Amino acid sequence: MDGMTTSPRETPTQQAALAARYGAAPPPAGPWNATIAGLLDHRSVRGYRPDPLPPGTLETLVAAAQSAATSSNLQTWSVATVEDPAARAVMAEVAGGQKHILECPLFLVFLADVSRNDRLGREEGRPLEGLPYLETFLVAAIDAALAAQNAVVAAESLGLSTVYIGALRNDPVRVAETLGLPPGVMGVFGLCVGTPKPGAEGEVKPRLPQSVVLHRGRYDVAGEPAARAAYDAEMSRFSQRNEMAADSWTQRVIARIGTVKALRGRDRLAAALQALGFPLR
Ligand SMILES: Cc1cc2nc3c(=O)[nH]c(=O)nc-3n(C[C@H](O)[C@H](O)[C@H](O)COP(=O)(O)O)c2cc1C
Repeated sequence: MDGMTTSPRETPTQQAALAARYGAAPPPAGPWNATIAGLLDHRSVRGYRPDPLPPGTLETLVAAAQSAATSSNLQTWSVATVEDPAARAVMAEVAGGQKHILECPLFLVFLADVSRNDRLGREEGRPLEGLPYLETFLVAAIDAALAAQNAVVAAESLGLSTVYIGALRNDPVRVAETLGLPPGVMGVFGLCVGTPKPGAEGEVKPRLPQSVVLHRGRYDVAGEPAARAAYDAEMSRFSQRNEMAADSWTQRVIARIGTVKALRGRDRLAAALQALGFPLR
């Protein structure tokens, strides 16, 4: 066998996977395979063993990430590892003290990166007029997210776990300074990768019923209040099982984006992006 692999978690049956993802109201069973089973088994993990990853894991994850679609093949993203303990500490601090950032053997920062294209334009004597626009930043952020999700799927298929760290956007300028990012590069989120420590394996978190996210032809909110009430009950049970504050999805949404204070500095993101060389015209 080429390279080293870790063994994936045993995958549940289709019925069990759909029940875990949707609780009492799963969609009808359709086509199924091991890839889909792996996707449905995703859960974020917030506690890691320090054990290093098998050699070549980082490069495999980056190959998976680079295999994602990228807008017009512009490839407006990059990824940075954070190995230096002092730099890790800065990342954890920016993210409000999330300890899994310090624990995990691999911490990545996915970067929206238009600087490479900018350099290309300058070297060719053709400064790129399209670069300063909001559209180009959005393209770069989408590219970074698609790449990262491919890395997540690859990691999970190897039996590893992950959690995204959007809280790096609490202070993107400090992240940029710590990683030495040139203008036109912004850390859109971090990603912890590793093996869960005992008890931190996590449970599949239920999602909204499909009826509220899948609109057949026309956007329809008629069933939303009843579906939200059912999902609130599902999420309260999940929270209780996982010893989280036993609040509903509704309460969590309000806590997360109900006030400007709850944005933890991200209300100033437009100014931070401008400081990082994204005019967002
Ligand atoms: C872009 C992004 C940023 C996130 N940031 C954080 C974070 O800073 N800290 C954290 O603990 N989880 C973070 N998460 C994980 C979400 O909370 C998690 O995906 C969500 O609660 C659903 O749970 P699941 O991933 O276990 O299904 C983030 C997820 C995404 C997609």
